Amino acid sequence: MSRKIFKPKVQRIYIIKLPISVNSLIRQFTNKVTQSSKLSIFMKNMRIREEARALLYEWVKSESLRKHCLSVAVAMAGYAKKLNLSDDEIELYWMSGLLHDLDYERFPDINVHPIEGCKELRRREFDEEIITAILGHNEKTGIKRYGKMAKTLFAVDELCGLIMALAKVRPENFEVMSSESVKKAMKKKDFAAAINREDIQKGIVELEVSEDEHFELVINSLKESKGELGF
Ligand SMILES: [Fe+2]
Repeated sequence: MSRKIFKPKVQRIYIIKLPISVNSLIRQFTNKVTQSSKLSIFMKNMRIREEARALLYEWVKSESLRKHCLSVAVAMAGYAKKLNLSDDEIELYWMSGLLHDLDYERFPDINVHPIEGCKELRRREFDEEIITAILGHNEKTGIKRYGKMAKTLFAVDELCGLIMALAKVRPENFEVMSSESVKKAMKKKDFAAAINREDIQKGIVELEVSEDEHFELVINSLKESKGELGF
């Protein structure tokens, strides 16, 4: 008995080879579309940043408080990048840091700050996640820190104050600064005495990060923006 041999039908595939010039035109067009959407996201985020900065400058006249707000913003953005968040989420983290002490100059009473600033942010239709995170950084508001952004903001706020103070007294500012330098500064109670060390420790526990990694990430974030921070 002869075995039937299965012969698959081979279909002829015609490959249309476009001239190189057409292929390269298509590629150039695709690149341009990608670049222009990246550019439009970049431009949108730049505009949002400028609006947030203008609001901060309207409410805060003290140069040192502005710098503090900016230091918290860059530390927040550093964390968002480490978490591989999207560009839009990085902006939200950055803004929560920049605006967290928005009303501190006008309303320094710890029972009012940052409630008044958040009323303004709500009026201007800022993202509710930013507002909740900002409210949560002062426990007097009674707003719990559930989200990552809120926990990060609390964890970096006082720490930025300590690291900025440390950078100011070191001739090499952020260079060769390590987590060990921060730990030593934490122990010296008379150095930057207004910084609440307990809040720094509490923030680390809440965020569930190692102390060394936390300190290093904030040092590196501030170092990357040292020009803007006045160093
Ligand atoms: Fe602060």
